[in-house]
Amino acid sequence: MSPITTRQDGDVLVVTSDNPPVNALGQAVRAGLADAIAQAASDDAIRAVVIACEGRTFFAGADITEFGKPPVGPSLPEVIDAIEASAKPVVAAIHGTALGGGLEVALGCHWRIAVPSAKLGLPEVKLGILPGAGGTQRLPRVIGPEAALPMIVKGDPIPAKKAEGLGLIDRLAGEDSLLADAIAFAREVMDRAEHPVSSARTDRLEGFDPAFFDTWAAENARRLKGYEAPKACIEAVRAAVEKPYAEGVKVERELFMKLVTGAQSAALRHVFFAERAAAKIDGVGKDTPSREIKTVGILGAGTMGGGIAMNFLTAGLPVTIVERKQEALDRGVATIRKNYERSAARGRFTPEQVEKAMSLLTPTLDYAALSGCDLIIEAVFEDMAIKKDVFRQLDQIAKPGAILASNTSYLNVDEMAAVTSRPEDVLGLHFFSPANVMRLLEIVRADRTAPDVLKTAMDLSKRIGKVAVVAGVCFGFIGNRMLAARQVEANKLILEGAKPWDVDRVLTDFGLPMGPFQMADLAGLDIGWNAETSNGESVRDILCERGRRGQKTSKGFYDYDENRRGSPSKEVEQIIADFAKKEGVEQRGVSDREILERLTYPMINEGAKILEEGMAQRASDIDIVWINGYGWPPYTGGPMFWADSQGLDTIVAALKRHAPRLGEDFKIAKLLQDKAAKGERFTG
Ligand code: 3HC
Ligand code: NAI
Repeated sequence: MSPITTRQDGDVLVVTSDNPPVNALGQAVRAGLADAIAQAASDDAIRAVVIACEGRTFFAGADITEFGKPPVGPSLPEVIDAIEASAKPVVAAIHGTALGGGLEVALGCHWRIAVPSAKLGLPEVKLGILPGAGGTQRLPRVIGPEAALPMIVKGDPIPAKKAEGLGLIDRLAGEDSLLADAIAFAREVMDRAEHPVSSARTDRLEGFDPAFFDTWAAENARRLKGYEAPKACIEAVRAAVEKPYAEGVKVERELFMKLVTGAQSAALRHVFFAERAAAKIDGVGKDTPSREIKTVGILGAGTMGGGIAMNFLTAGLPVTIVERKQEALDRGVATIRKNYERSAARGRFTPEQVEKAMSLLTPTLDYAALSGCDLIIEAVFEDMAIKKDVFRQLDQIAKPGAILASNTSYLNVDEMAAVTSRPEDVLGLHFFSPANVMRLLEIVRADRTAPDVLKTAMDLSKRIGKVAVVAGVCFGFIGNRMLAARQVEANKLILEGAKPWDVDRVLTDFGLPMGPFQMADLAGLDIGWNAETSNGESVRDILCERGRRGQKTSKGFYDYDENRRGSPSKEVEQIIADFAKKEGVEQRGVSDREILERLTYPMINEGAKILEEGMAQRASDIDIVWINGYGWPPYTGGPMFWADSQGLDTIVAALKRHAPRLGEDFKIAKLLQDKAAKGERFTG
């Protein structure tokens, strides 16, 4: 049965799509729409058409699962051209999200009416492509290039009210009366001699200065670095301004075809589906209940505790935060306020929102204040004895059914659970620093964590805008475990003669926001370092001993100026050379290629071990961890997808080649070897 049905409401043909979950514009939908427009044309009794959708949303775009498969007509551009060419006016009735091809359908319609809660956007760029059904040409004609360009290049949707202001929406409907309002609107306009045809409009293009494109591209260069699609988007919108529609649409088509068959788009589509797959937890079904979380408790108001608290405060959940000393508590609360105010200064929050969030915070030194909390997260020092002590106390205080979580980076959550009388209520919630900003949350499933506790954590992650991935209990879970594998090689590489800034550069050229030595300087080299016991056993020890403790002391691996801009240090070069000599490591020139392989391939090897041991549910989860927790470039698809695109046999061969330097402790994962031998991939 076709997902498209038609019915007549007097002289208006109501065309309805019912293609759950998001009314993606798959082949059957496209064919149904084309038939409906033909039906309207051939029936004299029909004087206008309304296109609407059942379910939660208007068309949310082309069907992404069809990409990469042989196309079956009618194509979306053909269908939209047919809608636009209809002699009888067509009205788009929009609710939910009109995205991508969905907004392009709406732009092909002569009139657009939407409920106030609707959102409209062209997010194709996030999938590594550009709108390929006329969107780059019609949107600038309807709302002007200045407003259209950011929508197309950044891909963020806008609310209906804003769309109305821009002229993208002709009218706002009642929230509960969209279809009736759309039919009434169709009747209102049907007698007009002419109806707006988006592709034929030139009024918003006249006199537009194309210099705008260069200025805009320069201003946004940093955030677009490495991505192919944004450049193509800019080129297409420029064509809309400089060329007639028929030619502009050809430019769009060519760019679309090139991108959709390219590596970046394949990688970004993988990320899209990976993000959705990550939310699915083995052994936790749709019918697993979720516990209600109305109040949150946090132990420790340090770097992480404060950031974690902000997530919940911003989401409107009251937070009780507990410290050992008044001074630490005051400092923690002041930092939270300062962070909010900084965000408010950038326009992310209004002053009222800041006050509202702060009013939900209860700082205290009294553990007993946590007794009413539904979820308690500890973010105290990374020390098992302290963590166990905290869990023992929480077991006494927390109400029955409360979820007890640890934000530990590396420690064993099973051991913490074991000191309580309720291990089923215990899990790890590993946030990433800065916790109010980073999107990733590792949900650490301990041996006895109950399914409903995992489900609650996953649901909660969505409420606070995080992407959550489930990890098993192992040293460093998914992300930090792979990071540790990389760090081992980074430390070796600088002894062998690679300079720290060369190591960092290779990774930033690859697309990561920073390399291991920049990261170390930022975090502080003295984390976990002890001045009393330090005796020059590592490069880090020596740097710390010489007062080079990172950005905060204006020198670490790099020298820093007053703007915290780092530059290579001769002193550090000498320290490393001396240390290498002492250790008997001969220094040599190390190629960029070796640096990249020695840093990334052991990570992938560790990823394979994580999979082998069942510490990650699927390879794509590892990609989501690295993209959202460490800034791995999404356009490569994440480390495991990238490994697949390199060829696993290539990686195994390189690891064998580097074996003498990787050392005797380094073992190639069996899963990696097996997959390489069989020509298989980690990701689908
Ligand atoms: N094609 C195929 N499947 C899609 C899809 C699409 N365009 N959009 C969503 N889905 C699937 C998801 O994979 C998910 O499947 P699952 O349940 O099996 O995991 C299901 O629909 C529900 O999606 P979400 O979990 O994302 O649901 P939400 O309610 O959280 O979000 C949404 C809904 C905002 C519509 C979100 O799904 C979304 O952003 N979708 C993608 C929109 C998009 O990128 N559109 C552009 C497509 S490309 C295009 O149109 C090209 C054109 O220019 C030619
Ligand atoms: P921090 O040193 O900034 O903060 C810890 C806070 O806990 C201090 O303010 C301390 O006074 C307080 N505290 C210690 N014992 C306490 C107790 N018994 N009761 C109440 N408060 C107590 O440390 P940070 O960086 O916030 O780390 C906290 C936890 O988060 C650690 O387990 C760490 O491994 C983890 N983590 C840290 C990340 C980071 O980048 N800093 C990232 C992810 C996790």
